[in-house]
Amino acid sequence: MTAKLVINADLPKNRINKNIYGHFAEHLGRCIYEGIWVGEDSPIPNTDGIRNDVVTALKKLNIPVLRWPGGCFADEYHWKDGIGPKEGRKRMVNTHWGGVVENNHFGTHEFFRLCELLECEPYICGNVGSGTVQEMSEWVEYMTFDGESPMAGWRQENGQEKPWALKYFGVGNENWGCGGNMRPEYYADLYRRYQTYVRNYGDNKLYKIAGGANVDDYNWTEVVMREAGGMMDGLSLHSYTIPGSWEEKRPALGFDEAEWIETMQKSLRMDELITRHTAIMDKYDPQKRVGLIIDEWGTWFLNEPGTNPGFLYQQNTLRDALVAGIHLNIFHNHSGRVQMTNIAQMVNVLQALILTEGDKLLLTPTYHVFEMYKVHQDNELLEVAFESPLYTWGDVTVPQLSVSASRDSEGKVYVSICNLSHEADAALSLDIRGTQAGRVSGQILTHTELGAHNTFDAPDTVAPAAYEGAELTDGVLHCVLPPASVTVLTLK
Ligand code: AHR
Repeated sequence: MTAKLVINADLPKNRINKNIYGHFAEHLGRCIYEGIWVGEDSPIPNTDGIRNDVVTALKKLNIPVLRWPGGCFADEYHWKDGIGPKEGRKRMVNTHWGGVVENNHFGTHEFFRLCELLECEPYICGNVGSGTVQEMSEWVEYMTFDGESPMAGWRQENGQEKPWALKYFGVGNENWGCGGNMRPEYYADLYRRYQTYVRNYGDNKLYKIAGGANVDDYNWTEVVMREAGGMMDGLSLHSYTIPGSWEEKRPALGFDEAEWIETMQKSLRMDELITRHTAIMDKYDPQKRVGLIIDEWGTWFLNEPGTNPGFLYQQNTLRDALVAGIHLNIFHNHSGRVQMTNIAQMVNVLQALILTEGDKLLLTPTYHVFEMYKVHQDNELLEVAFESPLYTWGDVTVPQLSVSASRDSEGKVYVSICNLSHEADAALSLDIRGTQAGRVSGQILTHTELGAHNTFDAPDTVAPAAYEGAELTDGVLHCVLPPASVTVLTLK
């Protein structure tokens, strides 16, 4: 059966904020240390201590925004420990993540340098769980005050004459859990208080993000929006894709078809979560002024055998590519409310885009999806009308297709399509109306093995290839997409 899709290229809906393609780097395992920061004296080629190979690879993704320093780490991070001469920086225990020593060599100045190298916006998450109002307030003063003040003077002594431009600031992380085990009523009050002292200095206008719900905790969204919605610009949401269960996670490799479809089903749940959290936000903010900021998402598997369980290091397969493609399509289709998302995490942790081992680096299937999809950044969202065929395995049934489309400022149309089925092709006819497009090209990411992944010995096992199977006749595009594939088509 051929699925029929209709796209009205001349009826754009809203802009797809490029920040949907944001990232997250926490002081966790080998993300910051080893994955990004190796120090100035490392034999690994670096710029001011930051790995050149990682920066070069990440720059190809047009990363718009990077969240730091956590995660759970943020609510026990004391920023003053991470500034000044490195030899004098406090050594602390990273209690959340493996109990290892954190030497604080990567701090505020190093983070802004990383963002400068990546040409992305910094997004800093402040400490509500174990930090004071004064500490948070002084951090903002340190980073953004242009003039004479104790914190600005200290910044200058540490080598940064001018303030940095900082837009995105999070007031706590997962304050229902690792960020203080709070009730929403209590957090809402704390949010109101802390954010009061998160000042806008000079021209630096902050976009304040309140700590949001865990998965389907709709009551959290309800209470925080009701009590503090008027004092925030964004409200976060965290939801991971976890085959098995939180208590009994499954390995990243060696899964069967049942676990494949379970992963697809759990990824698709993001659509329901956004719809329901959005409905609550709409009640308090019908103008959609407050953005939904999904600042942690991605797969969470068992750590790789032989690695520290607190480091959350996992392999990344074709399955992760599908998870990424499905999520990005859902985010596009909800981009009237979703203004930023941050995949967890950038390097060596959870659904990483890059894995490193010593001086070696590999790009994961997830990396390739982000590179293929980047053409959607800041485009106009186009509605795709279609009824997906179904994909059934065992007692699970899900739509076989996940699709989104956009149009850029030159009128080119991009359609990204995931075929979720592990065994069936997907035959499609796309009726693309309202465009003069006469040519189509495409890129596809797929493999015959569902568990295919890249290793340091075989880094190109899963890599994008040109897709030649699309034909455009009288404005209707016909194609057949292989099972377990992610495809991006360009029409011009
Ligand atoms: O990304 C790993 C952890 O997951 C983060 O530190 C925390 O916010 C979430 O529970």
